[in-house]
Amino acid sequence: MTTLTILVTGGSSASGIAVTRALGAAGHRVLTVGSDDVRIKAAAAEAGHAATPLVCDLASLESVGDLAATVHDLGIESIDGVIHLVGGWRGAKGIEDQRDEDWEAMERSAVTTLRNVSRVFYNQLEASPHGRLAMVSSTTATAPTAAAASYAAAKAAAEAWTLAVADGFSRAQSASKNAPTEQHSAAVILVVKALVNAAMRESQPERRFPGFTDVEELAAAVVGLFEQSAATLNGQRILLAT
Ligand SMILES: NC(=O)c1ccc[n+]([C@@H]2O[C@H](COP(=O)([O-])OP(=O)(O)OC[C@H]3O[C@@H](n4cnc5c(N)ncnc54)[C@H](OP(=O)(O)O)[C@@H]3O)[C@@H](O)[C@H]2O)c1
Repeated sequence: MTTLTILVTGGSSASGIAVTRALGAAGHRVLTVGSDDVRIKAAAAEAGHAATPLVCDLASLESVGDLAATVHDLGIESIDGVIHLVGGWRGAKGIEDQRDEDWEAMERSAVTTLRNVSRVFYNQLEASPHGRLAMVSSTTATAPTAAAASYAAAKAAAEAWTLAVADGFSRAQSASKNAPTEQHSAAVILVVKALVNAAMRESQPERRFPGFTDVEELAAAVVGLFEQSAATLNGQRILLAT
């Protein structure tokens, strides 16, 4: 199996720990990124497999540029994957009370962070023989509720951005008569209704969590992205909600 170098952006939550652990267990080198030094170091330690914790404000393009320089300074010429897990949540009662500050927060966490990491690492992902960009969206993006208007609109924008990256990969790698190229990079949207983890199940033993996706299931799906063909995956919206 090929050992790849994968960046998990927004790696300090339960989903980040599960994804980092699963990628490490599959034999990949994982760099896990968060905004807070203590939280991301704790997450990397919990994930194991010698995951490397890195601190970066992914909402700042300049900081993501510095992150790329730090990765290079670690002796890594190029990365193969970005698994983007920064999301956030803001809700309201309906349309009229959707606040500007909530929209700005959603735009920053769900859209700007994704734009920044994909702009900075695009060339590396496009050049990798196994390049993958994945983000996690919500079923709400295509079935928005009034209460979640800002959240759903931000997630829909992030999905559109990811499909634009997929188009970039497709155009760069489309076969031509003169230089036949097989598609080797893919941008993918993984869709969940909500995430659940062991701690949530333990703290609410009577709750069923219908339609929730376990973070371990998400992690297995992420590992699978590096085992399937880019031509099949590129531009796909993969539903993980049950
Ligand atoms: N949880 C759900 O039920 C649910 C439902 C639908 C979709 N999703 C999507 O699934 C993905 C994972 O969700 P999640 O709930 O596990 O994670 P999350 O809480 O949305 O974010 C993941 C991590 O990103 C880090 N982060 C936030 N802003 C950052 C920044 N500016 N720079 C660097 N790191 C930053 C946070 O850690 P630090 O603050 O420590 O940096 C946080 O632990 C997200 O894309 C989310 O939208 C989740």
